[in-house]
Amino acid sequence: MAVQAEAGSPTAQPWWDGAVIYQLMPRSFSDANGDGIGDLQGLQNRLRYLRWLGVDAIWLTPIYPSPLRDGGYDITDFTDVHPELGDLAGLHRLIEAAHGQGLKVILDLVLNHTSNLHPWFQRARFAAPGSAERNYYVWSDSEERYGTAPVLFRHFEDSNWQWDELAGQFYLHRFLHHQPDLNYDNPAVQEAMLQVVEFWLERGVDGFRLDAIPFLFEREDTRCEGLPETHAFLKRLRSRVQESSRRRGRPEVLLLAEAIQPMDEAMPYLDEGELNAAFNFGLTAHLFAAVAYGQAADLVQFLTELSERDVGRGWALPLRNHDELWLGDGHLVPQEVIHRIRDGLPAARGHWLNWGINRRLAPLLNGDPRPNMALHALLYSLPGMPCIYYGDELGMGDWPGLRDRDANRTPMAWTPERNGGFSSAPDPLLVLPPITAPGYDYRVVNVEVQKSLNGSLLNWHRRMLMSRKLLSALRHGDFRVLPSGHPSMVSYVRQSLEMTVLVAVNLSGTGASTQLNLTPWQGQRVRELLWGCDFPEATEEWFVYLPAYGFGWWLLGDAELSTSSKSAAGVASRSAST
Ligand code: NOJ
Repeated sequence: MAVQAEAGSPTAQPWWDGAVIYQLMPRSFSDANGDGIGDLQGLQNRLRYLRWLGVDAIWLTPIYPSPLRDGGYDITDFTDVHPELGDLAGLHRLIEAAHGQGLKVILDLVLNHTSNLHPWFQRARFAAPGSAERNYYVWSDSEERYGTAPVLFRHFEDSNWQWDELAGQFYLHRFLHHQPDLNYDNPAVQEAMLQVVEFWLERGVDGFRLDAIPFLFEREDTRCEGLPETHAFLKRLRSRVQESSRRRGRPEVLLLAEAIQPMDEAMPYLDEGELNAAFNFGLTAHLFAAVAYGQAADLVQFLTELSERDVGRGWALPLRNHDELWLGDGHLVPQEVIHRIRDGLPAARGHWLNWGINRRLAPLLNGDPRPNMALHALLYSLPGMPCIYYGDELGMGDWPGLRDRDANRTPMAWTPERNGGFSSAPDPLLVLPPITAPGYDYRVVNVEVQKSLNGSLLNWHRRMLMSRKLLSALRHGDFRVLPSGHPSMVSYVRQSLEMTVLVAVNLSGTGASTQLNLTPWQGQRVRELLWGCDFPEATEEWFVYLPAYGFGWWLLGDAELSTSSKSAAGVASRSAST
């Protein structure tokens, strides 16, 4: 029991507290100028949809100039916009328009490395060894250096070092060989990257997703992840960001760590004075393992540990993203969890890439909307910031066989028209092919069609997000796991000053009944929230039945919801006509 109760004054909460984040790849989202590539104007044109859906923030994967050999995470200029996406003025318009729709804008910031085409790297390889310019990157005369650091992209690289003929030395790259790691032992590098941050703060962004943040520093005989020096730099970064926001009289911005680490190692990023949030990838893996095997015990154990730590609001909660579903080598989660996912999700077979599964959410769950909804019922009610990967709200499919992780990065499906309404360009010009796979064809799985169907996954997500908005406890409340006594069921309580919400989810493909001990709420009224239905009052042995992958959110007690929220279920019927 640890997440603090809602603070007395609402202004005490930063904007990201309980916010729902929508991740999108601008190149694949919406194309306004008809060149086949999504762009900032296209995204701006779709902001109303995102507001309608009910998210709070958009996270844009990198928008910077880049040769695009790693989806834009290979940057040649940190302070500009890729010309195919637009320009700085266009970004300004997008940020203004997003703010006008009540949406925050989070940029992806890659601090760890650059493209090998970045002028800094070109300068470094020609500069004399030991010179300031050469020292922007990490060099070695042998590949033995930092030999205990694992190779992350093991299907593409067999070493963390690349020989550079011009420099006559190896350079370090923790990712692809054309992404040299910056040398954070060089104070000039630290300062240069802090200036990059300052540049974007001046342009009014609301947050940064900090890519690959554990890898900034390297030391011998370690995994070169999350070293004390890295944490010291991040503290510096945070105080610079705070100082800059104060100076400009602006609220603080979100600093969100991408650290694929077990919870104990990810937590230090959330220490006092460091970052505001971190993805909880361990939780993601446990969620998939639970649904793969229909067993909740490990997940319940994980959630219990989570509840004992005082950082509940700092976790960002993704199911999927633009990468493979990273499970790691046994360091992130125990091998047994990985085996469960591998054996329990047949759609994962043959789709392993690096240390994870290269599939989108819906196909990974074999197109079954029930586990998909069960997982989201958890995601939307656990403490933290739920993250939706664009298209997953529709159950969009993937294109296995495309290069690298492109399988998961295909164009958003907007309408049944050509190219799914993503672009008016001739097919060969499209950034990636729209999905036409059986069961996932964009002529059926698209925003327009799903908006018009009451029972669609899209309308379901919208209703869930709207309900979440009305339930302060789900956004800011305390979190306490409730033993369910059933091997497939996870149950917990979220409690704010205004209300108490009980959540129970059945993660298996068979029905589950159990008795929950609701003694602390004995005799209180119980209302199911999503369909607006009364249940028997709370008792020590409160009976609950959940069908296969079923779930419920119940309000305990007499909390008054506003008129519009009396029945969140009403949203379902209204949404179809929106
Ligand atoms: C993590 C990003 O999510 C991934 O897409 C990228 O390839 C690596 N970092 C390297 O930047």
